[in-house]
Amino acid sequence: HRVPRVVAATPPDAPFRNAVDTDPAVPEHRAWAAEVLERAARSDEGVATLEQHTVVDEQVLDRLLGETAEAGRAWGARPAAERAAVLQRAGDALEAARGRLIEVMASEAAKTFDQADPEVSEAIDFARYYAERARELDHVDGARFEPAALTLVTPPWNFPVAIPAGGVLAALAAGSGVVLKPAGPASRCGAVLAEVLWSAGVPQDVLTLLQVDEETLGRRLVADPRIDRVVLTGAWETARLFRDFRHDLPVLAETSGKNAMVVTPSADLDLAVKELVASAFGHAGQKCSAASLAILVGPVARSKRFLGQLVDAVSSLEVGAPWVATTRMGPVIEPASGKLLEGLTTLGPGERWLLEPKRLDREGRLWTPGIRTGVRRGSDFHRTEYFGPVLGIMTANDLDEAIAMQNEVAYGLTAGLQSLEPEEIGRWIDRVEAGNVYVNRGTTGAIVGRQPFGGWKRSSVGAGTKAGGPNYLVGLGTWHRSATAD
Ligand code: ALA
Repeated sequence: HRVPRVVAATPPDAPFRNAVDTDPAVPEHRAWAAEVLERAARSDEGVATLEQHTVVDEQVLDRLLGETAEAGRAWGARPAAERAAVLQRAGDALEAARGRLIEVMASEAAKTFDQADPEVSEAIDFARYYAERARELDHVDGARFEPAALTLVTPPWNFPVAIPAGGVLAALAAGSGVVLKPAGPASRCGAVLAEVLWSAGVPQDVLTLLQVDEETLGRRLVADPRIDRVVLTGAWETARLFRDFRHDLPVLAETSGKNAMVVTPSADLDLAVKELVASAFGHAGQKCSAASLAILVGPVARSKRFLGQLVDAVSSLEVGAPWVATTRMGPVIEPASGKLLEGLTTLGPGERWLLEPKRLDREGRLWTPGIRTGVRRGSDFHRTEYFGPVLGIMTANDLDEAIAMQNEVAYGLTAGLQSLEPEEIGRWIDRVEAGNVYVNRGTTGAIVGRQPFGGWKRSSVGAGTKAGGPNYLVGLGTWHRSATAD
């Protein structure tokens, strides 16, 4: 694809700056985006040409792990500045491949352009940000950093480029060999990502792309003593399972969330509607960071204007194929079943539909967005992650009650507040229990370097350092007191 901007080579020691998204207000960008979507609509490619190992054979798996660990050690022995230079090239290569990455995200993983484009920016940011952090590793007084030899990166399907890129690039920056096991429903995205990184100079044997089933992942890979770090984004239960397989294995996991946005009477209600809609229904609600609850304080809960605007905004979200430019909500990744189906069809005690979701296809993947109101404290919808296009409304008498509602879930990933009252904002920030707390902003789309991402409570397992933040690489190796320190 032709990229409508110049991709100049970034100098190896360039200070970090965030990548810039495609701008639909610029005619050239718009024309380019239409071309990308056109290709996504026609796409029926396979992964045959890519260096992907679909491992079924124990001997092949054994050889690949051995080779990657060995190559990883050599990679880790290179000066951090050299690794940083490769990462800078990776950032440029990802920028040059922006269209290709959006295309594969749309065709394989049902991402609309407005969701996929910032995801590429985030992947580029990880490359450049971790390049800068890598250079710091060689300059800590009195301490020497020893990278993990082999890191297993297991990302989810909902951010099929940014999250694998984050894990892989962090591990590479730290000096570790990497085995990337993309999520099954997004394996082609993972393969294209790996190809871009190899083309930028990441050695093929330092980054190995493996496709294995979940059983092999858990029982065989995690148990292998050559794997000495796991970077996992997924269910809290999976992270715990990994730990149970091997107690000595450091797992850096970003797990589930049940996130709420509180709206107080002092809020800019127009902004609140806009941010709530984006946070609840972006990528059809399939984000760990999504706001799946709105907690309306006092008169906001009774405001016909607010509720009317919210219903209008949500019901006008265009639902359809992800490669159609006007689509705002694509299908869910797998036919709705279990919890998600319940969330889309079944009301809890005291609840009613403000906007009832409708199934649009036979398979059960395409749904219009739903809003349920009357969600009670302690109910299923209050506490359970549904991962789909349905928002629940709770009401609170005051901000303190709203904070209590936000905090009495097992998770603590993101939290939102809409308020223009400084005292309220201060009180909320002091008390809310979440890794990423956002005021007058949506709860999704953390920006690398500015909003390091990661949760607490059941939203994280392991070191608790945040992706895209200053300390993330520290967890990807071991610190030794250096000989000159004493
Ligand atoms: N980092 C992703 C977000 O902030 C999950 O939405």
